[in-house]
Amino acid sequence: MRNISRLIAVGAAMSSTLASSFRVFDNTAYTNTSVGYGSTNINWIHAYVCNPLTEGGTIPSADVWKAIVLEWNVYPSYPLVLACEVLYFTSSSTAGLYLKVMSTLQTWAADVFPEGQIIGWYSLSRNTISSLYGHYQELIGNYSNHAFFPSAYTFSDSISTWNKSLTSVINVINTINDTLPIWPYIWPQYHGNYSFIPGDLWQQELELLEANRNLEGFVIWGGKNHAVCNDTYQATAALEPWLNITREYLDTLYGVYGGAARKVGAQLFN
Ligand SMILES: *[C@@H]1O[C@H](CO)[C@@H](O)[C@H](O)[C@H]1NC(C)=O
Ligand SMILES: *[C@@H]1O[C@H](CO)[C@@H](O)[C@H](O)[C@H]1NC(C)=O
Ligand SMILES: *[C@@H]1O[C@H](CO)[C@@H](O)[C@H](O)[C@H]1NC(C)=O
Ligand SMILES: *[C@@H]1O[C@H](CO)[C@@H](O)[C@H](O)[C@H]1NC(C)=O
Ligand SMILES: *[C@@H]1O[C@H](CO)[C@@H](O)[C@H](O)[C@H]1NC(C)=O
Ligand SMILES: *[C@@H]1O[C@H](CO)[C@@H](O)[C@H](O)[C@H]1NC(C)=O
Ligand SMILES: *[C@@H]1O[C@H](CO)[C@@H](O)[C@H](O)[C@H]1NC(C)=O
Repeated sequence: MRNISRLIAVGAAMSSTLASSFRVFDNTAYTNTSVGYGSTNINWIHAYVCNPLTEGGTIPSADVWKAIVLEWNVYPSYPLVLACEVLYFTSSSTAGLYLKVMSTLQTWAADVFPEGQIIGWYSLSRNTISSLYGHYQELIGNYSNHAFFPSAYTFSDSISTWNKSLTSVINVINTINDTLPIWPYIWPQYHGNYSFIPGDLWQQELELLEANRNLEGFVIWGGKNHAVCNDTYQATAALEPWLNITREYLDTLYGVYGGAARKVGAQLFN
């Protein structure tokens, strides 16, 4: 009993701490490589797990779903991102059904993780048409410890195109709910061909994310799903410029090795 109440207290404290600081989450899974340097844990249920279970608006049994949540929620009390990419609010004919499915899944998830843990639906904000913003608001109303995790990947060498796309999804999110954390997903590889983006482009993205007052941080994605990440690049990820650049950035962002921190939010645990 004591352990359970402690876990609950930690979860509730984490959700307010997470929301009031600038977090750089490490959602990478490259071979033998993690980011470290004050980055924060995050949990993720991949589309290859969720999509087959929810295709067409089906709902898995509560037991099956709760077991999946426990399997993937490897850092209890840190946010859980649900990548159920077949449950988007892009059509009024399915929105009601999908709202019911997502409400059910997030309620069951909350049954098995610490009270106060944050949930977010991966890139749902980029995939909600304006006439269905009310559905997204209802989804948030169904579980209020919510955050937004829009994708912010790189499709070209143009930082201005990348920034415009980010600004556009932030505007959508602020229309839906302007009080919840926004943590975009970035990826050091091009979305189209998986090769690593140039170091200076990555550096500019990190700086624009930090300067953007609408954001409470961001998530770094990469690796894990071999189908999309291409094994050719998986093992060499640590040799690419992004890792050193990210670590230098985190070092000065949080004052990891001394010096004045620009932001609070370095990971609480080792
Ligand atoms: C969220 O939705 C689920 C599924 O409809 C429902 O069982 C649950 O009671 C709702 N929770 C809240 C807080 O409205
Ligand atoms: C935004 O989310 C917060 C926290 O869940 C909630 O209290 C508020 O009512 C929401 N606002 C809208 C416009 O839905
Ligand atoms: C990958 O795509 C980017 C953006 O279009 C391009 O600049 C780069 O040259 C491509 N790299 C390879 C190896 O095809
Ligand atoms: C990026 O977008 C922000 C917010 O819209 C804007 O203030 C900033 O000037 C833009 N920066 C660049 C380099 O495009
Ligand atoms: C992975 O990338 C390499 C180098 O661009 C390419 O030769 C290979 O065909 C790719 N493999 C897959 C499975 O896409
Ligand atoms: C990753 O670690 C494994 C186990 O220690 C090792 O066999 C492998 O060579 C490493 N790969 C790279 C790319 O360093
Ligand atoms: C980044 O690379 C530079 C030059 O090789 C090196 O001096 C520095 O220690 C590296 N930083 C980190 C955080 O690994």
